[in-house]
Amino acid sequence: MDRNADAPWSKFDPEAYVDVNYRTPLDVDLLILRAMRDHFSRCFGGTVPQSVQGVDVGAGANMYPALAMLPWCEKIVLLEYAQPNVEYLERQTAEGGLDSIWDAFWKVLRENPAYHDVDPAARVADIVRVERRNLFDLDGQQRYDLGTMFFVADSMSECPEEFRRGVRCFLNTLSPGAPFAAAFMKESVGYQVGDQHFPAYRVNEERARDSLAEFTEELEIHDLHQVVRKGHEGMLLVLGRRNSVVAVP
Ligand SMILES: C[S@@+](CC[C@H](N)C(=O)[O-])C[C@H]1O[C@@H](n2cnc3c(N)ncnc32)[C@H](O)[C@@H]1O
Repeated sequence: MDRNADAPWSKFDPEAYVDVNYRTPLDVDLLILRAMRDHFSRCFGGTVPQSVQGVDVGAGANMYPALAMLPWCEKIVLLEYAQPNVEYLERQTAEGGLDSIWDAFWKVLRENPAYHDVDPAARVADIVRVERRNLFDLDGQQRYDLGTMFFVADSMSECPEEFRRGVRCFLNTLSPGAPFAAAFMKESVGYQVGDQHFPAYRVNEERARDSLAEFTEELEIHDLHQVVRKGHEGMLLVLGRRNSVVAVP
């Protein structure tokens, strides 16, 4: 069984990953983006709160979760382990660095009035920072008030315990009441990026609910039936809020 530490993270090719997943936006990502945008907007009641700190865990080469958090946050941290992805994110968050491929995603976010007055490129450069961290080493300080984790706990190991631990480590970074969004590839048997293979855990709705329910409230799991490549059976979008139950990592 391939564990997280066994996978070739230092050889993750962000450009190859973006080419396959984000250069041409997939309908399913736009569907996810709309649901996440409206969830955050509902949770914050349409008003911009004071000093919200956001986090995207395992941000990889995907800027859309950070874009979805932009209007609500004073600061956003992108946590990522693979060095090539850290460098990709540093380029995206540098002044003038946000790639135009993310325009199509912003267009969808802008359908919601909360996003109207935000200049995404300027705001990303202003408030988004990248940190190289291993998700498993997060210290359980509940320091973020808004969080996302897209295709990470399910797409980093074949091991059921590492999936559950990944979910708990993510939830442990969030303060009680924090809105969050997470996504998983359903029943994935692993995935290819360029010439490298990466492991996955075969998560389904029941397994996702088992790992999340105790530590969350207002939990919604949306089973999206779109298949985007061989070797998985759709996607799960999870929306909710962190509750105050402490999760042992
Ligand atoms: C399938 S990619 C998802 C990337 C991105 N979040 C997205 O939505 O496309 C999985 C990501 O998890 C990251 N990852 C793997 N193991 C990790 C760990 N132990 N700590 C933090 N990130 C990790 C990988 O480097 C990669 O960026």
